[in-house]
Amino acid sequence: MKHLLKLSDLSEKEIIEILNLADQLKFEKKNGIEHHLLKGKTLGMIFEKSSTRTRVSFEVGMYDLGGSALFLSSKDLQIGRGEPVEDTARVLSRYLDGIMIRTFEQAEVENLAACGSIPIINGLTDYCHPCQVLADLMTIREHKGILKGLKLCYVGDGNNMANSLIVGGIKAGMTVSVACPEGYRPDADIMKWAAESGRFTCTDNVLEAADGADVLYTDVWASMGQEGEAEERKKIFKGYQINSSVMAVANQGAMVLHCLPAHREEEITAEVFEAHADEIFDEAENRLHAQKAVLVKCMK
Ligand code: CP
Ligand code: NVA
Repeated sequence: MKHLLKLSDLSEKEIIEILNLADQLKFEKKNGIEHHLLKGKTLGMIFEKSSTRTRVSFEVGMYDLGGSALFLSSKDLQIGRGEPVEDTARVLSRYLDGIMIRTFEQAEVENLAACGSIPIINGLTDYCHPCQVLADLMTIREHKGILKGLKLCYVGDGNNMANSLIVGGIKAGMTVSVACPEGYRPDADIMKWAAESGRFTCTDNVLEAADGADVLYTDVWASMGQEGEAEERKKIFKGYQINSSVMAVANQGAMVLHCLPAHREEEITAEVFEAHADEIFDEAENRLHAQKAVLVKCMK
């Protein structure tokens, strides 16, 4: 595996191999076993959007692996003043061993990979968030023991999280249902691909989507870059919330996940969030372990 640009580039086998390595690295870290698999390597981390989890988990991950990470804010890079991504990629390829980038356009990430000569890892675009979903699958498997055959239900905006969850869930053998309002559905090509599996549905009815679910998932109604639409979106997404009525139609013992940050009483009630906080913060922790596995697969 050279890059991680989007989950659809990975085979089911590659996804499972990443999850297996992530489990192993988590076990080793918990037991104080060092694993300097990327000794002497440097990861550049370009951020054009805010981040808590992604930034800290990648930086700690590189440290754990015996390497180092460099935080590069696009505000400070010449890329922020218009230096072409093609030139930036070729320059950074001479200094670094890999780049993690969080930006708006998926095309920018793909372009960086095409023009540079080092591994590129997508740390979130408007289109997808593959690192998050690898951590999500790891967390589901950790709690449920399996992935195949489980029903994953996503409630809310058909955004980057929805797109990656559909691809990751279907590739991992799950059934995926999505509840999104008309006009705010996931990417049309992803939905078409998912429908071919016979294990995907999309509806505007939250209770219908959540019926019999083993895992319920939601994300903010207004993503980074959509701050100006936040008030309008509160009206559009009203009702697209994980709350006790939604939990009541899900399977007994259903998990609740959230990529975070969360807006309590918008996409999820504080009650449901707190009742499932252990799962949600395991999920956040697993960003570290899953990304370390990705770093090793791409950079070793
Ligand atoms: N879930 C996630 O990617 O969090 P950050 O925006 O804090 O990195
Ligand atoms: N959909 C959210 C995910 C944050 C991790 C966003 O893009 O802001």
